[in-house]
Amino acid sequence: MSEESITTKQIDSFYKITLSNLNKSFAGTEALNNINVEFNSGEIHGLVGQNGAGKSTLGKIIGGTHNLSTGELIINKKKIYKWTPKLALDSGIAMIHQELALVPEMTVFNNIFLGIEKNKFGILENKNLKLFYDLEKNIGFGLDPNVKVSTLRIADQQKVEIMRALARNAKVIIMDEPTSSLTNDEVKRLHLLMIKLQKQNYLIIYVSHFLESILSVCNKVTILRDGKLIRTNNIINENKTSLVEAMLGKSAEIAYPKRNNSKIVNPTKIMDVSNLKTETGVKNVSINIKEGEVVGLLGLVGSGRTETLRAIFGADKIIDGNITFLNQNIKLKTPKNAIKKGIVMIPEDRRKLGLVFSQNTKSNITITNLEKISDVNILNNTKEIKLVQKLINEVDIKPDTTEGNISYYSGGNQQKVLFAKWIFNSPKLILLDEPTRGVDVGAKRKIYELINKLAESGVGVLLVSSELEEVMGLADRAYLIKNGKTYDEIIPQNTLLDDVLFSLFEAKKDNEIKNEY
Ligand SMILES: Nc1ncnc2c1ncn2[C@@H]1O[C@H](COP(=O)(O)OP(=O)(O)OP(=O)(O)O)[C@@H](O)[C@H]1O
Ligand SMILES: [Mg+2]
Repeated sequence: MSEESITTKQIDSFYKITLSNLNKSFAGTEALNNINVEFNSGEIHGLVGQNGAGKSTLGKIIGGTHNLSTGELIINKKKIYKWTPKLALDSGIAMIHQELALVPEMTVFNNIFLGIEKNKFGILENKNLKLFYDLEKNIGFGLDPNVKVSTLRIADQQKVEIMRALARNAKVIIMDEPTSSLTNDEVKRLHLLMIKLQKQNYLIIYVSHFLESILSVCNKVTILRDGKLIRTNNIINENKTSLVEAMLGKSAEIAYPKRNNSKIVNPTKIMDVSNLKTETGVKNVSINIKEGEVVGLLGLVGSGRTETLRAIFGADKIIDGNITFLNQNIKLKTPKNAIKKGIVMIPEDRRKLGLVFSQNTKSNITITNLEKISDVNILNNTKEIKLVQKLINEVDIKPDTTEGNISYYSGGNQQKVLFAKWIFNSPKLILLDEPTRGVDVGAKRKIYELINKLAESGVGVLLVSSELEEVMGLADRAYLIKNGKTYDEIIPQNTLLDDVLFSLFEAKKDNEIKNEY
């Protein structure tokens, strides 16, 4: 039995990682089933599949977080018996997890060099600081080494993770959904970095639900479905439809589902926001949402979309303007107030805001609305299980059990639990910020149907998505927002996406625009 890492000599050489007849099961769940695949230096190798297909599990086996059940993991012709994240890292293999693993109270610098900052003479602060700036020069993330990680947006935390891998001299980097909370601009920069690393003979294993990204940046792709490997292919032989079909195992219906608007006659106004101004960059926003209506907020990154939602939800301070909710003036000071009134928000940064990992699916869903499952203040378990099970089926959470341990759920399924939690609250108004990020194509469609269902039942929906098509496909009406100001209103059904983009970008040329958003 060999316990040591691959010798450092091999770190700079070519990497060949082979999984051979590999199986992985977790008590009762078969996460990977007879996987045969090879990864080589110089590749950007995409890994795609629906939520729960086994992508993260595969990455974690290579990265040392999980042991395999049966089969072989062979790295540079060496069969691996014992493997841990530390041994993997010492051998030049780093994984950037879907759930970030930084120490929030420490600075960027200390997080990057954690564990390697000391030698027997003390702290190698200066050497590392030089390394930090060298890396920074190479990748241009614009990170300040001295700020606390807890103050950073998720996107920046992700950059810290990437930097951490590079600082450790990793030559194999597994990126699990690294772009799910980056802006389009940041994604573009990450892709450029990946290509740069590929040219320096790094091996990058790239897990993503953004098939356009996979198609544009990878040279190979492996498709998983239900823990099985469907195929590995050169990217030139694939397109979006072929990937989707292989992921789903059937032909895909990507179109937006139709909503039946006719059920609500004479809809009342749920919310009226006028001249909203916040400390966070909302300068003058006026919007209204009626019962059963899906209203979009169309803007580019930084236009004030998220900030508008946060202000309405009571999460950010409002300096000026007026909000009426069901014809009453309201001043919400905290999200708690908002939730009490029936306003809920699915924030962009979901993992941080909302799930309790020590609790099961059921408790996570019912936690903010126990009255709904109580009879005269006593919890009615049968009722709870019945309602939660119904919701689990509706939202399509897998595993579909009420008692599931959500810390083991795949990333996309954790998101669906959060979605279910807010629906359980029977909201009157739901604020959705990037509701389909990180979920697969099949689940996307489910979420679209869910949005429709909510609207059909009279809930007002305010929707923000950087996939502008999504807003165009789902919203009844949409406001255009730029520089913190709403300046126009459209009916998506009667408007071309190109015209919207043109307006949001003002006078840029057509083809430039498409590449930019
Ligand atoms: N530690 C664990 N314990 C039990 N089951 C697990 C564990 N980790 C993963 N699973 C299960 O293994 C299967 C594969 O999960 P995995 O996280 O690899 O999916 P994924 O392809 O990364 O999905 P997503 O796109 O949603 O992140 C799922 O059914 C999941 O619930
Ligand atoms: Mg995953």
